[in-house]
Amino acid sequence: MIVALDGPAASGKGTIGRRLAAEFGIGYLDTGAMFRVVGRAALDAGADLDDAEAVLKVAKEIDLDDQSDPRLHDAETGQAASRVAEQRVVRGLLLEAQRAFANRPGGAVLDGRDIGTVVFPDADLKFFITASTAARAARRAAQLREMGATVDEAELAKELELRDNRDRQRAAAPLRRADDAILLDTTHMSIDAAFDTARRHMARRLEELGCA
Ligand code: DC
Repeated sequence: MIVALDGPAASGKGTIGRRLAAEFGIGYLDTGAMFRVVGRAALDAGADLDDAEAVLKVAKEIDLDDQSDPRLHDAETGQAASRVAEQRVVRGLLLEAQRAFANRPGGAVLDGRDIGTVVFPDADLKFFITASTAARAARRAAQLREMGATVDEAELAKELELRDNRDRQRAAAPLRRADDAILLDTTHMSIDAAFDTARRHMARRLEELGCA
């Protein structure tokens, strides 16, 4: 079973995706982390982020699965990830790895921006998880504070919006809801409640597919 989870930054899709995969015992892939690894490596290599070939060269030389660098979670890396994600050749490289990951017994849950529209347009189940910018900034701030960081929530909201606008407006695989994706707006919903709704949809879908 392939489950696609798309939506803007910090909408809760990572938490929901991880929990769904654990609950049903299938694989989980955070595709945003792959773009972050490429963005970080491109910054470290001093590559021009608008130069598709230069970024592709960097991307081919690194291990996309090595997500141990703590800087991967920072705003600078998030912006770089969003910029390298505009390049079709970079997306092509990552898309292959994403499809290969999901080709495993039981399938996988993948979270990103274009999973239900481009990577797996025929996914068995699709969600589009969203929330207001203020709610997303507040949630991300709470996570960062828990990790001991000092945060400016207004600054964080601006950073999220800048990234979302770029992700929505780019020509290659822009962030958008697939027509057949279930919309989960978590603005006034706890992540626990959103997870529970997603879990029930997934259990029903597994039953329909005869896998339950
Ligand atoms: O999910 P995230 O915030 O870690 O993603 C970082 C950036 O990567 C995001 O701003 C856009 C890009 N991205 C993408 O273009 N396509 C995906 N499937 C996942 C992420």
